[in-house]
Amino acid sequence: MAKKSRAKAIYVLNGPNLNLLGTREPDVYGRTTLSDIGDMTAARAQSHGYDVVFSQSNHEGELVEWIHEAREAAAGIIINAGAYTHTSIAIHDALRALSCPIVEVHLSNTFAREEFRHHSYISPVASGVIVGFGANSYLLAVDAVASLIEEAAI
Ligand code: DQA
Repeated sequence: MAKKSRAKAIYVLNGPNLNLLGTREPDVYGRTTLSDIGDMTAARAQSHGYDVVFSQSNHEGELVEWIHEAREAAAGIIINAGAYTHTSIAIHDALRALSCPIVEVHLSNTFAREEFRHHSYISPVASGVIVGFGANSYLLAVDAVASLIEEAAI
């Protein structure tokens, strides 16, 4: 049974092209859609007592705005910045300004792919990183962020 909801939500932010999950390179990213991942993530977060704010944008600035919003509204944040992972100093800086736990997540094992995916601007400002477990990466990320939130509250 779901626990009573806590005051602040877990923000789950998704970057460019992740709206195409299910049909985009299914051999790399699987056949689960982003909407399915949203539902799975919300259910897992509920089991820890958290609501989820689940969003996707193809625009860097919009992701930055949501991270700013998360400063006040989020208990923790899970972010798959897609290709912006490898390019965005703006997202790096916005995350730096957060005080809640941050978990970076990727469906694919970025380290087993092209060299340009090996560097992340998110990792240095994340509490931890989960890569390569497909849609299950998001569920592992919810468990991780929930335990970091609990630890911080002790
Ligand atoms: C991704 C990995 C990135 O390199 C890529 O640009 C994506 C998806 C992943 O979840 O595996 O869009 O973040």
